[in-house]
Amino acid sequence: MSCALELRIMEDSAELAREAAEFFVWLGKEAIRTGGRFCVVLSGGSTPRALHAILAGPDCSEQLDWRQVWFFFGDERGVPPDHPESNFAMAEETLFRPLKIAPGQIARMKAERADLDEAARAYEAAVRTHFGVHPPACPRFDLILLGLGADGHTASLFPDTAALEERTRLVVPTQSPKGIKNRLTLTASAINQAKTVVFLASGAGKAEAVSAVIEGRTRPDRPDRLGQEDRRFPARLIHPVNGRLIWFVDRAAAARLTVAQQGIVSHEE
Ligand code: 6PG
Repeated sequence: MSCALELRIMEDSAELAREAAEFFVWLGKEAIRTGGRFCVVLSGGSTPRALHAILAGPDCSEQLDWRQVWFFFGDERGVPPDHPESNFAMAEETLFRPLKIAPGQIARMKAERADLDEAARAYEAAVRTHFGVHPPACPRFDLILLGLGADGHTASLFPDTAALEERTRLVVPTQSPKGIKNRLTLTASAINQAKTVVFLASGAGKAEAVSAVIEGRTRPDRPDRLGQEDRRFPARLIHPVNGRLIWFVDRAAAARLTVAQQGIVSHEE
C-alpha cells in the first residue's frame, strides 16, 4: 500500500517551525493517550533548532507530559557527544536541557566509537529492546523527523551509498561525502516502518531537492525498484509502508514544485 504524501507549505521558516511544533504536540498527546508513551526520532542538522526552541518554549513545554517522551536519533556524526557538530549536542542544548529530559529517556547513537559497525549493532539492539521487538519484526516509531540535504540525502542516507540497499538492519555505519565522514544512520526500511514521518525543509537551497524527491518515490521494499534517481536522491526512498508522510516546507523550498505537485493532498488536522 503506498502512503499518500501530505504537503504543507508555510510562508517562511518561522511559520514552518510553529506548525511543526503544533503537530508534534498534537501527535505526542495522541501517542501518550492511546499507547502511554511517545517514541520520537530526532533529525540532525540545523533546521530542527527552531522547532526545538518552540517545543522547549512557554507555548509547548507545558502541553506535553515530557516524562512519557522517548528520544532516538535518525543519524549521528562520528564525533563525541559534546562536539559542536554532534546531533546529540544540538538536541541537548535546544531540547533536552531546557525540558530537563532524564538521560534514561534518550538513546544516543555512539558514532564516536572506533568500531562503527559494532556501534550500529548496539544501537539497533537498544531500539529493539525498548520496543520489545526482535528480527524479523521491525519497531514502529510514533514519529520520525527528517531533514533534507540540498543533494537529496536524508538522515545520513547519502547518494550512491551501500546504506541505501540495506533491507534487514535498522542501523548501519556509513560515510558522508562532506564534513564529518563517519556516520551512523537509520536505514530507509527502518524509517519506513514509522507511524508518521515528517520532513522539514526550509529555504531556497532545498528547492531543487524538494522537487526532485517529491516528484516520485520508489517503494523501498522492492529492491528491484531502487532506480538511478533513488540512488541520486535518497530521500525518495522514504515511503512509510503503513503510515503517514508529511512534508513541512516553506515557500522558498517549495518554489520548484510544479502546480501538480503542489496539488498533492494536504491534510488538515
Ligand atoms: C545531519 C542530518 C541531515 C540533515 C540535512 C539537512 O546529520 O546532518 O541528519 O540529514 O537533516 O543535511 O540539514 P540542515 O537542516 O542543516 O539543512
